[in-house]
Amino acid sequence: MISSVLPTYSRAPLSFVSGQGSWLIEADGRRFLDLGAGIAVNALGHAHPALVEALTVQAGTLWHTSNLYQIPQQQALADKLVDNSFADTVFFTNSGTESCELAVKMARKYFYDKGQPERVEIITFSGSFHGRSSAGIAAAGSEKMTTGFGPLLPGFVHLDFGDHEALQAAITEKTAGILVEPVQGEGGIRPLPDACLKGLRDLCDEHGILMMLDEVQCGVGRTGKLFAHEWAGVGADIMMVAKGIGGGFPLGAVLATEEAASGMTAGTHGSTYGGNPLGCAVGNAVIDIVADPAFLAEVNRKAGLLRQKLEGLIASHPDVFEEVRGSGLMLGIKCKAVNADVVKAGYDAEVITVPAADNVIRLLPALNISDDEIAEAVTRLDRAATSLGA
Ligand SMILES: Cc1ncc(COP(=O)(O)O)c(C=O)c1O
Repeated sequence: MISSVLPTYSRAPLSFVSGQGSWLIEADGRRFLDLGAGIAVNALGHAHPALVEALTVQAGTLWHTSNLYQIPQQQALADKLVDNSFADTVFFTNSGTESCELAVKMARKYFYDKGQPERVEIITFSGSFHGRSSAGIAAAGSEKMTTGFGPLLPGFVHLDFGDHEALQAAITEKTAGILVEPVQGEGGIRPLPDACLKGLRDLCDEHGILMMLDEVQCGVGRTGKLFAHEWAGVGADIMMVAKGIGGGFPLGAVLATEEAASGMTAGTHGSTYGGNPLGCAVGNAVIDIVADPAFLAEVNRKAGLLRQKLEGLIASHPDVFEEVRGSGLMLGIKCKAVNADVVKAGYDAEVITVPAADNVIRLLPALNISDDEIAEAVTRLDRAATSLGA
């Protein structure tokens, strides 16, 4: 008999009942060190006092009105994002997938309004992940996600990650933009080198097409800059954000330049919940903390510490681990053992990691994880690896 919850997930036999900072407490009382942060969502850990306060104060004041009216919390958060990025304007969503939907619509509408309605195609890359909606799966294009769900939304051109010649050749009079994750998350923590991101920017400028970034997983301080593309010193035209921006409350956003957003006039897009007072109250609290240069400097310092310890871990377990890669606190360990077994051994050692493609385990801890917790995490990963080696 089918379970009462639609069985689309294969879940671990763990049931967490509370969380504190980088710790998750299981129903049986065990304390797990959380290096997954809800897949890069709990950017400030569990039950951060500033976020709890923002949410509870807002909950006691006003939950929901509608985008029919002014929403001051939404305006404040949009102002902060504009002040801290390439963008001139922001639309709020509830998830990364919804951000993908708008990014695609925005790019197409831009060219439609410019008198180039044939420019509908968006170039994407193998290993990418942009969500599970019809546009999201069509954008990523992997068979695993698309089989059985046809006909797919047309207008996506899929290229191999890193194939520069194919990219040059793929840009035609039908191209609207290039959509890329600066660091692929689900694809196995594969960072796009800064030079490639710069090259993409140049290519977009040369052909007058839009550079569209998916920073749903790698944005909001995760790589040690507020947004990952800042490392390459380039701006985007359209950027998708979600996950960390809500710190655990469902919130997403599309950031865009005035030019790229010019087609999105009144009535062209909307959302019942997107940008509601609760979500934006929390989003404001997250950005107030994460956009602070002193906070980001600490993320970078801790990232260096974690990476150094992981290099030591890999050297001690060459039969289990192969290499560490990634950026900031978005790290992946490519495994020699089966990654699912490493994640499982981690559960036994009471440390949470997240599997990804390419036989990688992801380490996406809260950005405010302490030095002691980093040391403890690596001790627990060492225990997990030892149990696998035995
Ligand atoms: C890069 C990227 N884009 C989009 C999404 C979809 O976001 P959501 O699950 O919030 O819809 C994800 C989720 O993992 C993601 O990692």
